[in-house]
Amino acid sequence: MSQAVSRPGREVILGIGGGIAAYKACDLLRRLQDDGFSVTVVPTPAALNFVGTSTWEALSGRPVYSQVWENVPGVAHVSLAADARFIIIAPATADLLARLAHGRADDLLTNVVLASDAPKLLVPAMHPKMWLNPATIANVETLRSRGFHIMEPEVGRLTGPDSGVGRFPQTANILARFREVAGSKADLLGKRVLVTAGGTREAIDPVRYIGNRSSGKQGFAIAAAAAARGASVSLIAANCDLPEINGVEIIRVESTAELRTALNSEFPASDVLIMCAAVADARPLQTSGEKIKKEFLKEIALTPTPDLLGELKVLKKATQLIVGFAAETQDLDASASSKLVAKGLDLIYVNDVSDGAIFGSDLTSGTVMDKNGPLVSVEDVPKDTLANVLLDQLLLQIG
Ligand code: C5P
Repeated sequence: MSQAVSRPGREVILGIGGGIAAYKACDLLRRLQDDGFSVTVVPTPAALNFVGTSTWEALSGRPVYSQVWENVPGVAHVSLAADARFIIIAPATADLLARLAHGRADDLLTNVVLASDAPKLLVPAMHPKMWLNPATIANVETLRSRGFHIMEPEVGRLTGPDSGVGRFPQTANILARFREVAGSKADLLGKRVLVTAGGTREAIDPVRYIGNRSSGKQGFAIAAAAAARGASVSLIAANCDLPEINGVEIIRVESTAELRTALNSEFPASDVLIMCAAVADARPLQTSGEKIKKEFLKEIALTPTPDLLGELKVLKKATQLIVGFAAETQDLDASASSKLVAKGLDLIYVNDVSDGAIFGSDLTSGTVMDKNGPLVSVEDVPKDTLANVLLDQLLLQIG
């Protein structure tokens, strides 16, 4: 059931119409999975005459329903529609095209299509007389005018003695069109990406701590973007009040010491580390087990925290890449360049935090640099845009 894993941005619904080409969609399902998509199959009830539920469940690793009357508490048509990033219906029969063109909602698949804003690709397959029938032609036109992407069937031998236009296209052709429609990249497939997010806290006593303003939004955006591009992602989150990300393993930590332990266990198996977390620079020399009375809180002796990236530099293998972050208020490029060298980084993202605007914000401005200097700058972009810019630069480093 390994395919059951959910990946943000790569959730696909594969709708199956009631045509003999349904058996060819088994191969399509497999190839979509090879491309890093997590696929839920929704056959029409008629499609089950050709390929049954057990086959789809075994191949997809997920439960398969065809009617809204099944899995009623799960409200499948709404939840599937909400999660799906793309819908592909292959084969789409003449009847299914007609039902979709009329906005019918008489089985689970048509309900999901109506409830979803995701891009939809239909792959018709039927007898030439049915494909060329004015009713089908009108339905296809209607659906195209509403934004459905519809492939042309291929020409050739059909199931019966006839031949002509109506054949289910080759899987490779469907995939090529799907990639075009989805506009999606699977360029991190097979890569193990470790991301740290948030800010560490160092306890003064059971109530108080030394911390920083990092919200974790940037690290979470990077984790989600990497997962959406097919990577297998682990996220070490230090004090982040942010929701889970589907398909991303989150390890929650509080202090620098806990972050260090998590990094030491996760880093060796990672291809890439993106060290976005703001590590507390110092911790109290002593942590009190009891709440310190106000009148004794005059001075706190501090000691520096370990430089975690500095420690990892020694363990780093030639195949591993490390990206660091720098939040600076002056001499941005020069400070970032020296950090890059000192910490053995491949890339660094430096942002100007002089007005405090970046912490907790949904936007970021800064520059991605490597050892030769600035590579790309962004200004007031959403943190998920920066995430993808950074991943693009990372891939260029991988080569
Ligand atoms: O805090 P500083 O500007 O040195 O942070 C630069 C990079 O070093 C960041 O990626 C941060 O996560 C990392 N860092 C670290 N250990 C520290 C402090 C920062 O690994 N003690």
